[in-house]
Amino acid sequence: MAFTPLTSLDVAGRRLAVRADLNVPLTRDGVGDATRIARFARGMKPLLDQGARLIVLTHLGRPNGELTPALTTERLVPALAEALGRKVMFNDTCVGPIVERRGEALQPGEVLLCENLRFERGEEQNDPRLGAGLARLGDIYVNDAFSCCHRAHASTTAAVLAAERVAAGPLFLAELAALQGALDEPQSPSVALIGGGSVAPRLGLLKRLVPKINTILLGGGIANAFLFARGYSIGRSFIEPEYAEDVLEIAALAEVAGCRIVTPDDFVVAGFQRVGINSYPVPLGGVRANRRILDIGPNTIARYQDILRDARTILWNGPMGTYETPPFDAGTRALAQSVAELTRSGLAVSVAGGGDTLVALNRTGVAHDFTHVSTAGGAFLEWLEGRTMPGLDALERKADAA
Ligand code: 3PG
Repeated sequence: MAFTPLTSLDVAGRRLAVRADLNVPLTRDGVGDATRIARFARGMKPLLDQGARLIVLTHLGRPNGELTPALTTERLVPALAEALGRKVMFNDTCVGPIVERRGEALQPGEVLLCENLRFERGEEQNDPRLGAGLARLGDIYVNDAFSCCHRAHASTTAAVLAAERVAAGPLFLAELAALQGALDEPQSPSVALIGGGSVAPRLGLLKRLVPKINTILLGGGIANAFLFARGYSIGRSFIEPEYAEDVLEIAALAEVAGCRIVTPDDFVVAGFQRVGINSYPVPLGGVRANRRILDIGPNTIARYQDILRDARTILWNGPMGTYETPPFDAGTRALAQSVAELTRSGLAVSVAGGGDTLVALNRTGVAHDFTHVSTAGGAFLEWLEGRTMPGLDALERKADAA
C-alpha cells in the first residue's frame, strides 16, 4: 500500500484538514481516557511547529446525524489544548462557509477543532457533497484516523476522493506499520493472545491468524466457545453456542497449519461478576453448573507466561477475563506485565489493539512498554481479519491516480 506521508510534505503555512479519531470515552467532568488525543497530538506537534494551520475533524460517539449536546466535540477542547500545548479554537459546525472562513483565517501554528462530524446526516451516508465540503477545508486533506478506516463515511472516503491533495497522517501510518510488521512478517516463534467477550468478531480473526502464527493462547468468551465445543462444562459462563461448529472448523484448520491453539486448564469462578464476591480457582472439568468463569486461573497464567517467554512476536486482542471487575483482572494484568517485560528487555515485539485491550493495558500501567498499542477497536480487528477497509481504499486509489 502506497500512501503519501504527511510528514514528507512541506506543510509550512498550509491548511491541513485532518480527519482524526478523537472518539474518546467521556465522563461527567470531561475525557475519561485521553490516549487517542495524546497519540494524535504527538504526531501533529512537529507539524504545527513547522507552521502548519490545523483544522481538526472528528466524530464523538454515535449521535446518528442528530445534534446531540452531550456529544459536542467542544468538550474535547481542554484535553486537546493540553496535549498539543497550544490554544485550540472551536467551531460549532464542521462544514460550510463559516468554518471555511475561519480555517482560512488561521495563522501558522493555530488549531481549530470542528463540531462532531456525525451531527451531519451525510457523514455516515458517505455523502459526496459533505465530502467535498470537508475537503475544501484544507490545502491538504489528511486521514490520521486509521481506527475509522473500516467505515465508509464522508470524512474517510468521499472527502479523500474529492480532495485535490491527500496525505496519510503520522498516527495512521504508525498504526498500519505496526500491524503489517506483526502480521505480515512475524518473527518466530509468534504468539497471539486472543480473549475478550463476544466470539463473532474473533472468528474471522482466528482464521486469518492460524496460518501465520505459531501459537494462539485463548481466554475470555472465545476460550469458553472452544471448551464448550469440545464438550467441557463451563457452568453459567458467557457462551454463544451457535458458534460451536465454526470453532471446531478453526481447530481443524489449525491442526493442518501446524498452529497450536491453547485453551485454559484452570479458571477463577464465582456465582456472579461482582467486586469482592467469593471466587476461587477450579481445574478444567471442575466448573459447577451454577458458577461462571470470570478469569483464567493461576496454572493457566503460569503456562501462558512460559509460552510467552520464548516468543519473538506477540499480538494481543481482548482481555483474558472480566478485567473491569477486580479480582477478575488478575490474568490480564499478569500477562500484560509479562509481555511488557519481554518487550522492555528487547526479546519480543508486541502489538496490542482493541478498545478493551487498550483500557486494560492502561489500567495495568504497561501500555507504554508495548512496541505498539493500537488506538483502533473495530478497525484493528477488521484489518487483522483481512477485510477491505474503505478508508484505506480511498487513500490508495488517490495515490494511484496521482
Ligand atoms: C472506534 O471507537 O473504534 C472508532 O472511533 C470508530 O467508532 P464507531 O465504531 O462508532 O464507528
